Amino acid sequence: MIGYFFRLLSFIKHLYSTQTGQNKSKNVKLSVYEQRIVTHRVDPQTMQITWRDIAGLEEVINELKEKMIFPVQKRHLNQQNNTKSHCLHTGVLLYGPPGCGKTLIAKATAKEAGFAFINLKPSTLTDKWYGESQKLTAAVFSLASKLGPTIIFIDEIDSFLRSRSSRDHEVTAMMKAQFMSLWDGLETDHQCQVIIMGATNRPEDIDPAILRRMPTKIHIKLPNIEQRKQILRLILENETVDPLINLSHIARETEGFSGSDLKEICREAALLCVREIMDSDTLSDDCIRPISQDDLQKATTKMKESKSLGGLTLDETLSYYS
Ligand SMILES: Nc1ncnc2c1ncn2[C@@H]1O[C@H](COP(=O)(O)OP(=O)(O)OP(=O)(O)O)[C@@H](O)[C@H]1O
Ligand SMILES: [Mg+2]
Repeated sequence: MIGYFFRLLSFIKHLYSTQTGQNKSKNVKLSVYEQRIVTHRVDPQTMQITWRDIAGLEEVINELKEKMIFPVQKRHLNQQNNTKSHCLHTGVLLYGPPGCGKTLIAKATAKEAGFAFINLKPSTLTDKWYGESQKLTAAVFSLASKLGPTIIFIDEIDSFLRSRSSRDHEVTAMMKAQFMSLWDGLETDHQCQVIIMGATNRPEDIDPAILRRMPTKIHIKLPNIEQRKQILRLILENETVDPLINLSHIARETEGFSGSDLKEICREAALLCVREIMDSDTLSDDCIRPISQDDLQKATTKMKESKSLGGLTLDETLSYYS
């Protein structure tokens, strides 16, 4: 009975320490370098993005829960049973075409898990003084472990940790090597609650040694027809729309479009309704009509035209706009 009580107490203590990981930073002493890095920390409580803001990617969300959130929250199971069955994946790569929700997913993961989130930009680690970059790199890892469960997020990771070459600047080469060895330290530390999450649309440019440290690679593809319909429904959720609107039709028409393109279509359709008010002398602001099928159709056609401009020369583009 007493043993059961103590186990329950340690479980509650563990839960408390996991959930309040972000508050640990208030009581820990930080070095000068850690203080520079901590300015890039985003408090998950101030983040607005949740799983609900992501449409059509339930499988990805489940995989992230299983490999990132669950192992941290269920760490007591490993400690109690002395097993590593819920091993944390310290490296996760999200890759795929632009505008398909990689950054969105990273933010939602930090928010939903309640982990501290360090948005690491390569420029944060570069310093003109010799040796400073290495100290800053070390500070990223030491700060992360002080903050409790932490996601170190590196957007466009290919630009930071691209394949090493003999033409690399000495400082860059040293920084990459140091980054990798500190990362290995996470792998061997069973108490570790730090995850490095990278996002890229050019996975082929990432250094193979870095790819190896990211065993969880999640491909975020262009949305299929069903996913496009779900994204459109989510984006239009808080807009006033005509009840006769047919989102399946728009989803069918938008083959090859990203989530970000679909958002742009909805924005353009909403703008068409506002423009009518702006152009009219008689209609007042509260007369904005609901978004219709026709608005969405026009916005889709416009988006298709602007996407097809991608392959034009400068002269062709200028003549199109003139
Ligand atoms: N699955 C989705 N559900 C809801 N909105 C989405 C989805 N995918 C993309 N979007 C919309 O597109 C916008 C851009 O997404 P995000 O910035 O996450 O793309 P990305 O994959 O990181 O692109 P890039 O590779 O260019 O950085 C989001 O802010 C969101 O409005
Ligand atoms: Mg992004």
